Amino acid sequence: MPDSALSGKTVLVTGGAKNLGGAISRDLAAAGARIAVHYHSPSDKGLADETVAACVAAGGDAFAVEAELTSVTEIRRVLDSVTGRYGALYATVNTAGLARGNPMTEVTEDEYDAHFAINSKAAFFVMAETAKRIDDGGAILNLVSSLLAAYTGRYSVYAGSKAPVEHFTRALSKELAGRRVSVNNLAPGPMDTSFFWNAAAPGEEEFSRAQTPYGELTKVEHIVPWVRFLLTDGWWLNGQTVFLNGGFATR
Ligand SMILES: NC(=O)c1ccc[n+]([C@@H]2O[C@H](COP(=O)([O-])OP(=O)(O)OC[C@H]3O[C@@H](n4cnc5c(N)ncnc54)[C@H](OP(=O)(O)O)[C@@H]3O)[C@@H](O)[C@H]2O)c1
Repeated sequence: MPDSALSGKTVLVTGGAKNLGGAISRDLAAAGARIAVHYHSPSDKGLADETVAACVAAGGDAFAVEAELTSVTEIRRVLDSVTGRYGALYATVNTAGLARGNPMTEVTEDEYDAHFAINSKAAFFVMAETAKRIDDGGAILNLVSSLLAAYTGRYSVYAGSKAPVEHFTRALSKELAGRRVSVNNLAPGPMDTSFFWNAAAPGEEEFSRAQTPYGELTKVEHIVPWVRFLLTDGWWLNGQTVFLNGGFATR
């Protein structure tokens, strides 16, 4: 349904072609927003094109942009393509991320660097480059993880590389003082997408389900309404991390 608060507004969704990012792109487009659908792997071009088509069919406008976001040059290129096309930027929803669930003794240097490159460095510069271009009154949202509130093994490098984003968020929310830009994180619980299944160990699904009073994994549908809310009526939340996990973990 069109939403007057989002109609005609421009939103960059990193990782916006599939899974959670794909659902966010579609939902915001249905509210009338213009969406820059970022995707990473060239093999996802078809998915990105489908998401763009769905956004347009839903009543918004959209275009797809491929990029490797661990490069600051690429981040600038993406953001310049957004403002070049739409002339403004109301919000960035940064869903890009990487997770492999390995014990610390098995994490390689390359895996460590890859996690910090996308989960920390890319998040930092996506936020910073967004801040240089964003409209007054806009919003920046990062996807982090409910593992930031959990006490567990196997995800040291994933959770550890998401943790700095909370500090980036606090700092930027203060630095944007006077511009009414809200900067926040959403922290889903273990979520039923390929991202979870690629990282999960045998038995992890059952364990994760058992940790919530509802006995379910998080679904993208549980997260999407929060994105729309924080980009509209929920703007008063600032500098925070919201744990969205059906009771999996709290902090
Ligand atoms: N699923 C879960 O259990 C869960 C739980 C809590 C939080 N989260 C967070 O939620 C967000 C979305 O996850 P999802 O479940 O929807 O999975 P997803 O679709 O795999 O989202 C991750 C996105 O990041 C992109 N990406 C990875 N490396 C990149 C790079 N170097 N440069 C640019 N983009 C890159 C991926 O593209 P490629 O696939 O092409 O590499 C993908 O589009 C992630 O930030 C994740 O950490 C997920």
